[in-house]
Amino acid sequence: MSAVEFIEQNLHPDGSQAFIIRNETALDERAREALLDRAMGEGRRRKSSEKLRRGRLPSEGLAFVARGINGALLGTVRLWDIQAGHDAAGKPVRALLLGPLAVEPSLKGKGIGVALMRHATAEAARLGHGAVILVGDPEYYERFGFSGTKTADLAMPGPVERRRFLALELKAGHLEGCHGLLTPRGRRSSHAMRVLPVSLRFSR
Ligand SMILES: CC(C)(COP(=O)(O)OP(=O)(O)OC[C@H]1O[C@@H](n2cnc3c(N)ncnc32)[C@H](O)[C@@H]1OP(=O)(O)O)[C@@H](O)C(=O)NCCC(=O)NCCS
Repeated sequence: MSAVEFIEQNLHPDGSQAFIIRNETALDERAREALLDRAMGEGRRRKSSEKLRRGRLPSEGLAFVARGINGALLGTVRLWDIQAGHDAAGKPVRALLLGPLAVEPSLKGKGIGVALMRHATAEAARLGHGAVILVGDPEYYERFGFSGTKTADLAMPGPVERRRFLALELKAGHLEGCHGLLTPRGRRSSHAMRVLPVSLRFSR
């Protein structure tokens, strides 16, 4: 889809809130972090999901921002490579963890969150991923097909409210029989590399 088509599809009925969704770049980092602080507060860094993201990069091609026509950053969503335990045969199951999803607080309810979610899950499917897992309000995420049925035997690496532990299969049966702990699997970020001692950074 072209950028122009995307803007047209995301025009608010009164034309006031047009936005475009595109892949995040390094230049978006500062505005994204400020938006997350405004939308979610300091507690966001203590979430169990953070243990699966800390020191890692998002899955290749799966970090998105929504930008207004004036260039302001209005929303963010990223997906992360994780291992969702093992299947019934003991084979590791690859999946994505989605989050955080956040929208500029003054612009809630204008369809930006839904557009980010639809774009992110469609791109994940296009790139061949099998499933997306997240922790969030089922009242919001059920509209995208997320439910708790496939996470019943999975565990987060920290406390989680069971009803908010949700999954969406992008390939039918991808999470069938999966059980065990979610663990990080993503590429390490250079931020993480910087804090490693030099001897560890270059050891083989
Ligand atoms: C949740 C969030 C991303 C939704 O984005 P948004 O752009 O405001 O949402 P949209 O305009 O796309 O969708 C609005 C719809 O979602 C519903 N909705 C929004 N947040 C919801 C929630 N937490 N639970 C249930 N429904 C919710 C609205 O009631 C509205 O429903 P309707 O379409 O039936 O009227 C945004 O409110 C946000 O940034 N919240 C703070 C951060 C956060 O909580 N992130 C998600 C963690 S679960």
